[in-house]
Amino acid sequence: MSTYVVVGLQYGDEGKGKITDVLSAESDYVVRFQGGDNAGHTVYVGGDKFVLHLLPSGVLQCRGKCIIANGVVVNPKAFIQEIGQIEAKGLKTDHIYISRRAHVIMPYHILLDVYREEEKGGTHIGTTKKGIGPCYEDKISRVGIRMADLLNPEILRDKIEKNLKVKNALFERYFEKSGLDKEVVYHEFLALGERLKDRIVDTERELNEAIGKGKNVLFEGAQALMLDIDFGTYPYVTSSSPSTGGVCTGAGVPPTSLQNLIGVAKAYCTRVGNGPFPSELKENLGEKIRQKGREFGATTGRPRRTGWLDLVSLKHACMINGINRLVVTKLDVLSGISPLKIVTRYKTEDGKIIDYLTSSTTKLYHYQPLYEELEGWREDISEVRSYEELPGNAKKYIEYIEDFLGIPVYLVSVGPERSQNIIRKELF
Ligand code: GDP
Ligand code: IMO
Ligand code: MG
Repeated sequence: MSTYVVVGLQYGDEGKGKITDVLSAESDYVVRFQGGDNAGHTVYVGGDKFVLHLLPSGVLQCRGKCIIANGVVVNPKAFIQEIGQIEAKGLKTDHIYISRRAHVIMPYHILLDVYREEEKGGTHIGTTKKGIGPCYEDKISRVGIRMADLLNPEILRDKIEKNLKVKNALFERYFEKSGLDKEVVYHEFLALGERLKDRIVDTERELNEAIGKGKNVLFEGAQALMLDIDFGTYPYVTSSSPSTGGVCTGAGVPPTSLQNLIGVAKAYCTRVGNGPFPSELKENLGEKIRQKGREFGATTGRPRRTGWLDLVSLKHACMINGINRLVVTKLDVLSGISPLKIVTRYKTEDGKIIDYLTSSTTKLYHYQPLYEELEGWREDISEVRSYEELPGNAKKYIEYIEDFLGIPVYLVSVGPERSQNIIRKELF
């Protein structure tokens, strides 16, 4: 058995897509297990840019199958559009399958997401407005529509009718907006099911059998631990479990089958959307990092908030995920910045020094981060390919992270291209 799980350890956009693409060259399966098209995973290959939202980033070079497993929420229209973009670049897509159990993002989920955000005003979450939260709500409320339902006209009609009865009442009476026509929605989604029918399959048995046979299976997380519905900065989070634990429920694979738990962290930190971000840089340096790191959302185009690396929250993320391999990305972006600061503790409102993350999002807003300062380096490191060739202070930065977390850094990414990696092979 050789299973790999790639998850984000910060607030998303750590470079999971790039790392999944790199690892997928050896994979028999690449699997998305949670989230939906709220994700934006960017991969550069020979100057060509691919932005994947719903498709596993393995789609570019995986020689086996790409699976969208049961824990993902699927917007079929977004799926078809993305398939089209991949095919337009001359790549094959007939190896992409969706679980029959995956829930469907319906037009009323997207409207609910938009109206709720509008209603919240200044306290809005800053969602991607893709209908993610409302779709997961219906799943948990047991009124959701699953991919398999798109293939059964009677069930589909009945579920759409029942859902729209409630949702239209909400749209019309509470939000004072127009409702949706059930016939229009029904025919649209029946047609989408017809179009996708050959891709809608059971996935959990095949995945478990593959793992049993020793195939190489790679699970690609979307979002990240600090956006986790339980362990992130609730309510400023997404509505799924982007942790390694999410693989078990999101793909039907037991914890005993998961081996290499790879946590991806940026060498600094970014966040898109609202919510606490203790190490945020609001002054010029924050803008410098945003420009140099091209920190603009891949899904919404929003500027990402930027800040220093936070080892207190990274420790929390590694603990919940059981990370045993680290990947540090975007180290090249820090070239020329000195000193570099790293959060190692927080000072609470009543002056207590702590080195763990609080469950209270409200308190986190008021915690003062305490920093360790490290000297930076000036050299451009984007062409460096061996660890030994890195400037001494860059190595010290990586080793500080390793020592603090007690987990080895297996790969250091020094640029967006597939080839821009320093792989410390001895760690595998
Ligand atoms: P994901 O959501 O975790 O897959 O990350 P995104 O793709 O949303 O954001 C990461 C961005 O950083 C993308 O534009 C990548 O092309 C880029 N990127 C990834 N690794 C590196 C790196 O090591 N250096 C630089 N400069 N850019 C990188
Ligand atoms: P990847 O996979 C960064 C953020 C949104 C918002 C919150 C809830 O590219 O790392 P949602 O639409 O999920 O209900 O939004 O989560 N968010 C992300 N931030 N990267 C992502 O995905 C994100 N997916 C959602 O900005 O704050
Ligand atoms: Mg992203």
